[in-house]
Amino acid sequence: MLETLVPQPEDKILKLMGMFKADDRPNKIDLGVGVYKDASGVTPIMGAVKAAEQQLWGAETTKSYTGLAGDPGFSTAMRELVLGDAVASDRVAAAATPGGTGAVRQAFELIQMGNPEATIWTSRPTWPNHLSMLKHLGAKTREYAYFDTETCAVEFDAMMADLGAVAPGDVVLLHGCCHNPTGANLNAAQWRAVADHLVAKGAIPMIDIAYQGFGDGLEEDASATRLLAQTCPEMIIAASCSKNFGIYRERTGLLMAISPSAGATGVAQGTLSHLNRQNFSFPPDHGARLVTMILNDDTLRGQWQDELEAMRTGMLTLRKQLSDELRARTGSDRFGFIAEHRGMFSRIGVTPEQVDQLREKHAVYAVGDSRINIAGMNAETVPVLAEAVAEVIKG
Ligand code: LMR
Repeated sequence: MLETLVPQPEDKILKLMGMFKADDRPNKIDLGVGVYKDASGVTPIMGAVKAAEQQLWGAETTKSYTGLAGDPGFSTAMRELVLGDAVASDRVAAAATPGGTGAVRQAFELIQMGNPEATIWTSRPTWPNHLSMLKHLGAKTREYAYFDTETCAVEFDAMMADLGAVAPGDVVLLHGCCHNPTGANLNAAQWRAVADHLVAKGAIPMIDIAYQGFGDGLEEDASATRLLAQTCPEMIIAASCSKNFGIYRERTGLLMAISPSAGATGVAQGTLSHLNRQNFSFPPDHGARLVTMILNDDTLRGQWQDELEAMRTGMLTLRKQLSDELRARTGSDRFGFIAEHRGMFSRIGVTPEQVDQLREKHAVYAVGDSRINIAGMNAETVPVLAEAVAEVIKG
């Protein structure tokens, strides 16, 4: 049997990770995988997380199973973080998952269980693993226009035109904030228009929110998700704690399903637990417990918010610096959008060949679609990157 397997396509982000590791040039710059790094290139354990781990080490008395949907305290804390009081809690079913990716994967399966006929709409472009998982599951998919590669901004009119073809019961996957890979996001009026459109069409929004707190702030980054929750009768949300708590390897995420009325929540909750049981049984607990402790303790929460805010503002400073350095070197405003984009990524709009040149000649690693990880830079490497980009676009 195993001899009949065929090689699977490599994930381009993970492939780049391997290439960067194997490169022995000392000046190499990693702008590939979406992992936050501080100015010294380290992915730090946040102080609030360390403090919670220390407390947990003293207080934890058992490693027995939690519930199939994880610890209810985690679901409550995360529901409040993401949704605030946008929707009555008795309409929200929730289950802990292995990371945000686990939540996305379970969400796709939930959709297939609820409505096998539903088409799942994704932005063009989207996080490549969305497409890969959808293909793996044999889901019906369509794309909607999102990013104008000329202006490096959202092409909203084209997006709405494509979403005109959404059918009742279809699911539209949206990035709650900090769009990955582009860094270009809808404004409040555009979100309002999308929400109204989905209601009019009888379509269901699915939000992937993996970078809450990395864009405009914790509350601001949740505002689109909350608006949709207030507007649409049904909704699915996949939330990740990997980035904003810096607990990537703990695999901590939450899937939420909002039903039109409290009466439907019980079956939705049972279905989320059932899906966990089928795929991996009980979800990981360590990261979820740390998140719960941090969100429920004023001191830890204050420390965490300060640390997260420092990460966010640091990335904004780097965006501005890169945009300024590129303006100075190219004599044009072509890269002004980098300062306007939000989150960990921007797609800087150079060609795949130029991305190859950046890597081969300048040891700068970016994803082939020209996505760069803003947190992969620091004040010293921004001018180096700007120089390299200016050189490759000159040809
Ligand atoms: C990314 O987009 O780089 C991150 O979400 C990490 C990953 O798993 O791809």
